[in-house]
Amino acid sequence: MISQQTIQQILSRVDVVEVVGSFVKLKKRGVNYIGLCPFHNEKSPSFSVSPTKEIYKCFGCGKSGNSISFLMEAEKYSYVEALRWLANKYNVEIEETEISPELKAQYQVGDSLYIINQFAQQYFSDQLFKSEEGDAIAMSYLQERGFNEDIIRKFQIGYCLQDRDAFAKAALAAQYNEEYLQKSGLVVVRDGRAYDNYRGRIIFPIHNQSGKVLGFGARVIGKVERAPKYINTPENEIYHKSKILYGSYFARQAIDKNDECLLVEGYTDVVSLHQAGVENVVASGGTSLTPDQLRLVKKYTKNLTIIYDGDGAGVKAALRGLDLALEEGLNVKLVLIPDNEDPDSYVNKIGAEAFRDFVKANKKDFILFQVEILSKDAGDDTNKKAALVNQIAETIAKLNKTEDFTKQQDYIRRCSDLLRIDEIGLNNLVNKFIRDKLMKQELKDQKQQNPFGQSDGGPGFGPPMMGPDGFEEPPIFVPGEEDAVQLFNKDEANERAMIRCLLDYGLKPWDEGRRVADYIFEESVEQGMIDNKELVRIMDYYKGWYDEGLEPTSKNFLYHEDQGLSAIVVSVMDFAYELSAKWNQHFDGKMPTVEDIYRNDVRSAINYLKIRKIRRLLDENQRDMQKPHNSDELMVLLQTHMALKKMEQDMIKANGTVILK
Ligand code: GTP
Ligand code: MN
Repeated sequence: MISQQTIQQILSRVDVVEVVGSFVKLKKRGVNYIGLCPFHNEKSPSFSVSPTKEIYKCFGCGKSGNSISFLMEAEKYSYVEALRWLANKYNVEIEETEISPELKAQYQVGDSLYIINQFAQQYFSDQLFKSEEGDAIAMSYLQERGFNEDIIRKFQIGYCLQDRDAFAKAALAAQYNEEYLQKSGLVVVRDGRAYDNYRGRIIFPIHNQSGKVLGFGARVIGKVERAPKYINTPENEIYHKSKILYGSYFARQAIDKNDECLLVEGYTDVVSLHQAGVENVVASGGTSLTPDQLRLVKKYTKNLTIIYDGDGAGVKAALRGLDLALEEGLNVKLVLIPDNEDPDSYVNKIGAEAFRDFVKANKKDFILFQVEILSKDAGDDTNKKAALVNQIAETIAKLNKTEDFTKQQDYIRRCSDLLRIDEIGLNNLVNKFIRDKLMKQELKDQKQQNPFGQSDGGPGFGPPMMGPDGFEEPPIFVPGEEDAVQLFNKDEANERAMIRCLLDYGLKPWDEGRRVADYIFEESVEQGMIDNKELVRIMDYYKGWYDEGLEPTSKNFLYHEDQGLSAIVVSVMDFAYELSAKWNQHFDGKMPTVEDIYRNDVRSAINYLKIRKIRRLLDENQRDMQKPHNSDELMVLLQTHMALKKMEQDMIKANGTVILK
């Protein structure tokens, strides 16, 4: 691990303009720099870099971040790789800290497995290309299937001889450890003797993102009889099936270029498509996609196109797990290969160009496709149809990220068309699912965390809405409203404003003896004013540091190892003040400065959230009043109502105009 001191050294030297400027041509414009965005195609620059804030932001595609996230995004580096790149650029010597003995042991096993795999890959390649048996049995089989020599070399395909222990002997003679050979799955040990596990099979090496061999898939030659068609590397320190997409190493650049990832089932599908010039393709290994695999895809593109055999099993496998892809915000399309062919056989049958045209012409939208096949299934059965409408509404509800709102509306329109049902009705149903989901999530979050507990053991938000009978009330948010999602987002904008105030002005004076941060924490700790858990996390971190006597700013978050934190902070940060710096001239230098307005900003952000809180309490009180009560109880509730109402009025008066729903 890289020591904290080294990281500090690197970060103190980083210049975001220099780092981004190594990849993007930048021009100075005011206090910022602008250029053509490297993350989307554009003709006029909307990509802006702020040297003072140490961040970049594209006003076209919305991508934003700091030097480290830039390297992670543009170069697909990991956090540590990005640090190493920066260390190298700024001549910082990297000091590694001691790692735990367990971790060290695990790394060592991993390293050994990589080395063994590399040896094995080379060995199997040699057998395929240089041995008589390889030529007669394996090479002829591969050629018969249409694979040419270039593609075989590129994918480092090999052959394991039929002999029972040729590889094992070679590996042991080369001093490889028998225990690790077993772990790698290449060798099995029986009665103290080592045998080859992949005898007489074609070997497909499986590479990681940087081209190292993680493991193998080994296919029998010819028709499958009794033995399994493929044998795969068992799970070990480096081979984790659920995290692997076969071919991703070779597909990376093409996926970037096409901004699309094609997904097929098998090794041979990937290799054949590559040979046909379709290189943005990976394989899942015949199972439904795992969350880790989806994340891997998402690292490269948001557009996932699944190409499967038209037969029932393949399609079902494709549909499974895909709701998850929607939740992750991926655009999922589906292409079905006809006539019992798979992509490999089909591209061989109709040729590269026809195949590409076929894919282009037959891409179906995943949700609409689901509607299509399921409504065929349902026929005229009313019960089945109702179940189908529910299922589709639930799927559409999963697209509830902010940026997907218009997409969601579009689906509601098209699906109600396809299903011949009322559009508004479907819309309501979708909203119901969204509400259910949010409620469940919120209840879960409330149960799970006590946001301020970790830093000071203070009062915390607690479970905020305990009913008088001790039952947890469901969280409040405008039930029944069609645009619940939008309301939610408007609310959140105000929460973000408060966090922005904390980051930008937290260390500035508020009043006698207090700084803005003190004020914000005093006002918010007891009130439980922020809903968004990510923003609460930022507050927690800030408070933790602040209480330790540090002076946190947005920079502490920008370069945090948890790039999730960094991303939220960047999304909260504002370019506005800098972009408007030129305005000063128009105003004869009388433009109000940050110094003039920050108190107002802070006050208005806090007040908005306070009023919201009061209104929530009012709502809660009102709902309580609708339950049966004796007159004393009613009196108390009524007084509470009056008191809250007065607080609300006072707040609004004090605050001038407040924009609220
Ligand atoms: P070919 O038949 O040579 O074209 O291979 P394929 O890749 O088209 O195989 P298929 O479509 O039957 O299966 C798709 C993928 O599922 C394969 O590439 C393997 O990753 C996996 N798979 C298929 N059969 C087996 C098996 O018997 N065992 C294991 N572990 N995986 C298999
Ligand atoms: Mn096949």
